[in-house]
Amino acid sequence: MVHKTPNANRGYRDQSKIDLDKKPTRPKPKKTSQSKKKPQESGADSSEPLPPRGAQHATPWAPEQSQEQQLMLDVFRNTFKSVLSSPDEMNKTLQEIKTALFNREFDKAFGNEEFLDAYAARWSPTRALCYERVLHRASVEFNLEHLYPNYDPSRSETEPATEPRTLKVVSIGGGAAELAAVAAFLRGKLQQTTSAELVIVDSGPWKSVIDKLYTGLTTPPPVSPYANAAAKAAAAAADPLISADRLSVNFEQHDVLSLPSAKLKSIIGDKPLLVTLCFTLNELFTAGGLGKTTLFLSALTAALPVGSLLLIVDSAGSYSEIGVGSSTKKYPMQWLMDKVLSGDRDGRSWAKLEAEESVWFRLKQDMDYPIQLENMRHQVHVHRLQENGQAPAAKVDEPSASPDPDVSR
Ligand SMILES: C[S@@+](CC[C@H](N)C(=O)[O-])C[C@H]1O[C@@H](n2cnc3c(N)ncnc32)[C@H](O)[C@@H]1O
Repeated sequence: MVHKTPNANRGYRDQSKIDLDKKPTRPKPKKTSQSKKKPQESGADSSEPLPPRGAQHATPWAPEQSQEQQLMLDVFRNTFKSVLSSPDEMNKTLQEIKTALFNREFDKAFGNEEFLDAYAARWSPTRALCYERVLHRASVEFNLEHLYPNYDPSRSETEPATEPRTLKVVSIGGGAAELAAVAAFLRGKLQQTTSAELVIVDSGPWKSVIDKLYTGLTTPPPVSPYANAAAKAAAAAADPLISADRLSVNFEQHDVLSLPSAKLKSIIGDKPLLVTLCFTLNELFTAGGLGKTTLFLSALTAALPVGSLLLIVDSAGSYSEIGVGSSTKKYPMQWLMDKVLSGDRDGRSWAKLEAEESVWFRLKQDMDYPIQLENMRHQVHVHRLQENGQAPAAKVDEPSASPDPDVSR
């Protein structure tokens, strides 16, 4: 997706106390082998995306990961069959979406079901697989398990558990990708009693896409009417990607920038949970301006129980630079995010657990999907809400923050 920075004046100075005159420092991209590699076409690289680092225990993703990726692509292919089988019409719709995104007309780009169907078929499969890797790594490194209401720290992931372990996830600006990612994440968990309760909050009319994708994820693949009896029997016996009793999803259509805090609190509930902002924060800053986005993030911080995690994934590099106010200057999204999330908030603060400025997610080779999919470069940030005075959370990856005079290019 193209993230282009607009020049429109959004009047941020009246709305925010953040000092934008202080020059932002653009963190230098980490010199990892992942960030040095060039983007490649779909399936051109077989390296493992987001390898877990410092793992205490390995959670199992199916050994043949390419089969798992293919399984996910098959769910998307079957769910969005009708849009994928009309390539000319689909291309026309995708072009209209791209034009709307280029013009920063987000309401238009995500404003009708036909567009969301095409968007989900085109961009969500790779995102879903990418976000699953991000969740997997967050689970290994930051112990998502501690968010289960009945989490028992004395029990290891490999010990059989009988009690239900339900992870609550609220995806702000979420869609098909988050739903499929959470399903795949659960599929990779050893404990069959691990489940998730996902709430997707988005201003766009994602409900029908989410309903049909949920059906696709939780029912066995459809059988061709021309299949022979043996193939029909095999298909009938096949498992769905995830069993429906392990995943629930609830869609809430709201503009989060004007969501009353009581409603936000009722969506979040009173137990620590995971909140995701995947490819959405940039849009909030761009369309809503710094003031409204700051207010929203402050309301979110106030509504969340201590211990909650905030996961932010977005475009990497210059694609994530945002124009704010009348200045032609652009600001790196993570710099704005750090400004907004930093400091004490009524005795609580966000501890930065992870800051990856440039990571590649690469699809496995020879994946079969009706249209071409691309590898995906992104940035990942994980924060934990803590009470001040609490021991600071371990920073796994400290971002470098050296001044970069070229930031306003
Ligand atoms: C680029 S899409 C990303 C969708 C999905 N998270 C993904 O990764 O594929 C951005 C999403 O944010 C939503 N969005 C933008 N501004 C929003 C707002 N103010 N309130 C709620 N959702 C918003 C859009 O409707 C859209 O679904």
